[in-house]
Amino acid sequence: MKRATLIVLAGAAAAALAGCAGMDQSASSGNPFETASFQSILKKDFVSKGQATVDRLQQTPAQEACSKYAYLGQPMPADLSKQIEAQATAGVVYPKDGQYMGDWKAGLKIAEDGKGMQWSDKPGTPNGGNCLACHEMIKNDPSQGNIGPSLLHYGKLRGNSEAILKYTWERIYDSQAFNACSFMPPFGANHILTEQQMKDVMALLMDPKSPVNAD
Ligand code: HEC
Repeated sequence: MKRATLIVLAGAAAAALAGCAGMDQSASSGNPFETASFQSILKKDFVSKGQATVDRLQQTPAQEACSKYAYLGQPMPADLSKQIEAQATAGVVYPKDGQYMGDWKAGLKIAEDGKGMQWSDKPGTPNGGNCLACHEMIKNDPSQGNIGPSLLHYGKLRGNSEAILKYTWERIYDSQAFNACSFMPPFGANHILTEQQMKDVMALLMDPKSPVNAD
């Protein structure tokens, strides 16, 4: 839950700062994250602790572009969003053995687990996927989030053709392949989940026996 909240807050902070960007001389790039006032707030309020180091605040080129446009509600130039999406697509690594599906029971635990990569987590231990913080996946579970679309009955509705398996894998690996400014964490590209863990959440979405596809 925490990671999802942080992502959303980052977007909200960008939007809030846009309001005062005009007062800051260094706002010429249009990205409120680059303004001197915002950078000094970051330096003052964030410190490295354990594996959660402040270099995480360094924006990728895609995040910079999204801070300038999408997160402020401005349309991004089409060639820029296409370029970000093409780069994300080119970076996708598919399962080495060609098998997309793992164990849905392990996938459910990963989808429910919001731990990992925080200063208090032991480095090297497996991370969770926190899917349920953003997606409805299980019927009648009131604790699920709605930042992302409902994935209830995902496999039942879409089938398990090669095209759907490939699309779903790419979505989980790096959602920016489809939406340059996606809020969904790039689970493969940022090494949040291992290949096996991604297979397990694939099975959670697609396996007919998984609770996602139960009536
Ligand atoms: C921080 C919120 C967030 C988290 C966590 C998250 N997602 Fe998403 N997801 C989204 C959003 C938002 C979309 C809608 C598309 C977009 O904006 O990129 C999406 C889209 C998707 C889609 C495509 C849906 C469609 O209709 O084609 C799939 C599949 C998916 N997510 C699976 C997952 C899985 C599996 C996990 C956990 C490993 C996960 N998501 C974690 C926010 C999230």
